[in-house]
Amino acid sequence: MTPPSRSPEGSARPGAGRRGEPPVIAVDGPAASGKGTVALGVARVLRFHYLDSGSLYRLVAYRALSQGALIEEEGGLTALATGLAASFEGERIVLDGRDVTLAIRTPEVGAAASRVAVFPGVRRALLVRQRAFRRPPGLVADGRDMGTVVFPDAVLKVYVTASAEERAARRHKQLIEKGNSVTIESLLRDIRERDARDMGRAEAPLKPAADAIVLDTTGISIEASIAFVLERYRQISGEARTET
Ligand code: C5P
Repeated sequence: MTPPSRSPEGSARPGAGRRGEPPVIAVDGPAASGKGTVALGVARVLRFHYLDSGSLYRLVAYRALSQGALIEEEGGLTALATGLAASFEGERIVLDGRDVTLAIRTPEVGAAASRVAVFPGVRRALLVRQRAFRRPPGLVADGRDMGTVVFPDAVLKVYVTASAEERAARRHKQLIEKGNSVTIESLLRDIRERDARDMGRAEAPLKPAADAIVLDTTGISIEASIAFVLERYRQISGEARTET
């Protein structure tokens, strides 16, 4: 692992985490862009920890929906996010002692997640929880604001995107394989609504960080996308090693 170092401007040099912290690779992008699969694949190869930050917003939404809480009420949702009794056990997500790994993946919970995610109180409550995932030897974090807000000193920032049609088709395939019955048309509508809400909100809107590499995965395989990110990371850590 490359030792931490700083540039003369005080920002982290490539390959190094700020203040001696483990390196973070931030993978952001819109719904169903493939960012989760890419991020998980990269984390597996590098043996880094993995944060699926969207699952935290989904957990808040799921909890709110299941206890009949108002999805529009910031105070209640913030309290819920603060007290969230959730744990990540390998690839399983447990909430209040129950396995909710699949339950939080439905389109309904996804749509509700993007509604609770507009509230600054909810985002603040989840910030510390997300940063706690940064542990040696490193972290691959996927979401909407990993590179812009949560880990602005990430050594590598990738913004994964794809056309809305391709994203709807991919999500359709995933859901059908899991036994859910949905139409591509309804998924496309849902994706466009979520894009508009995620990109248009005042707090931490979805956008590529100024120093992010944009990776358009339309027509590109997951394997090729993973290889692209790994190659960039290796270049960056190689450069940092020769500089130190
Ligand atoms: O990535 P996923 O589809 O699971 O995320 C669900 C919703 O959570 C997104 O539509 C978005 O509104 C919100 N989210 C967010 N910031 C993140 C991750 C997810 O606002 N870092």
